[in-house]
Amino acid sequence: MRLADARILIADDEADLLDNLAEIVEDEGATVVRASTGAEALARASGGFDVALVDVGLPDAEGDTLVPRLREAAPGAEVILMTGQGSLEAAIRAVRVGAYDYVLKPFDPDALLASVERALRLVRAARAEQGLRKALRQERDFTAAVLDTAGALVLVLDREGRVVRFNRACEALTGHSYAEVAGRPIWGLFPFVPEEAQARAMFQAMLDGGKGASAELHWRVRGGGQRLIAWTNTTLPDETGRVAYVVATGLDVTEHRRAEHELQALHVRLGEEHARLLQAEKLSSIGQLSAGVAHEINNPLGGVMSCFRALRAGTIPAARLPEYFETIDDGLQRMASIVRGLLDYARQRPPRREAVDLASVTALSVRLVEPSVRGKGLRLVDELSPGALRAEADRSQVMQALVNVLLNAAHASPEQGEIVLRPAQDGHRVGVRISDQGPGIPAEIRHKVGEPFFTTKPEGEGTGLGLSITHGIMKAHGGSIEIDSAPGAGTTVTLWLPAAG
Ligand SMILES: Nc1ncnc2c1ncn2[C@@H]1O[C@H](COP(=O)(O)OP(=O)(O)O)[C@@H](O)[C@H]1O
Ligand SMILES: [Mg+2]
Repeated sequence: MRLADARILIADDEADLLDNLAEIVEDEGATVVRASTGAEALARASGGFDVALVDVGLPDAEGDTLVPRLREAAPGAEVILMTGQGSLEAAIRAVRVGAYDYVLKPFDPDALLASVERALRLVRAARAEQGLRKALRQERDFTAAVLDTAGALVLVLDREGRVVRFNRACEALTGHSYAEVAGRPIWGLFPFVPEEAQARAMFQAMLDGGKGASAELHWRVRGGGQRLIAWTNTTLPDETGRVAYVVATGLDVTEHRRAEHELQALHVRLGEEHARLLQAEKLSSIGQLSAGVAHEINNPLGGVMSCFRALRAGTIPAARLPEYFETIDDGLQRMASIVRGLLDYARQRPPRREAVDLASVTALSVRLVEPSVRGKGLRLVDELSPGALRAEADRSQVMQALVNVLLNAAHASPEQGEIVLRPAQDGHRVGVRISDQGPGIPAEIRHKVGEPFFTTKPEGEGTGLGLSITHGIMKAHGGSIEIDSAPGAGTTVTLWLPAAG
């Protein structure tokens, strides 16, 4: 089977000859497409064939016009002309315009088959090559498309560090075309000397067999300036396994890193801002406490002063002197303790967690607030017993939270009202409940209470920060603040903290 699977077009106007030829090639395993005119041959050709055997003497066609059209109709196919002595010249002309060969009539079947066979080999080789080329082109187009559509920078360097690939993202970023940089060293694109050195060292390490190095390095960009690129490198070996190319893929992370830095700075600023707010609220509550403190100091101060005047006048009998000194000493100590309490409260100190007796911080807070609520005739009832509940907490912060809640309760309380402090316990939480007999918090503002700067108090009296700071303090401790309030039934605020131990 010399022509197995071949498709042979035979065009001849002599029916006997056509049959004869068909039989010869069919015997060799070919499929035959028959035509008796040039027009018919062209019509059949479009169905595809490998080799055509065409009689030069077809009544409606000249060989030199028919051959190119046939080859056009079936790309890659070859045409062999059959000719008598009389039309040999026409056959030769046809070979010039693309026929593969011609055979002289009457022909030797073997010679004819040999020619068809050669043509067929040529056709098959050409088509196979065409297929390969197509596949290769597709592969190349595909790779190029991938390299160019991915937003990543793709850079390939040879062993000398010269650019052999510079994708569109590289072109867009740097403003240099591939043609400009092809075959040139890449190092000029690094604006900073130490980074260029780092890039060179990394490149050398890759050549020496290093694996997947990565680094963030700047590149000069179009229009001046530079961008920070996160590079990841790999290598491509040649047939012998030696590194032939270094492939670097890069992502522009300039914005990313900038945003990270800004976020960090923002965190720092927020921290500072928070500390400032904390202090602002404290100062505001100190302002509110100071009237009471001044009043509190006034009593012992009066006693001390009258004793001192009597002593200076020298009218005190010697036997009564100790009693006078005792009164002065007592008064001074009371004043010192009040001032110390206020200073203690006002001082900013780094937070420190310890086991805190809730009753003792509560008592301190009550003492601090009490003087300023006495004018309103309020009674502070502290029902906590010393040592009963211990919280894991920062004493000074818990005191600040308590003072704020107590001052809120005092503000809300009616004249002669009562504020009661009770202990609370629930599993691993311990707390203090502060109940007042005020009007309660109206439902329509309840969700706003605790928002920073939300206050219903006139300017100068409220900062609107107290509850938000109290909430912050409780949260930082892993505790919480609970507010129960019904209009007309007063308000109970519970501060919850983790129990100590
Ligand atoms: N015990 C309470 N009774 C009624 N309203 C309260 C009570 N505690 C807080 N509030 C309301 O919550 C608001 C916010 O309180 P706070 O954050 O401490 O700020 P400020 O006391 O400076 O107004 C108060 O203005 C008040 O309207
Ligand atoms: Mg307040």
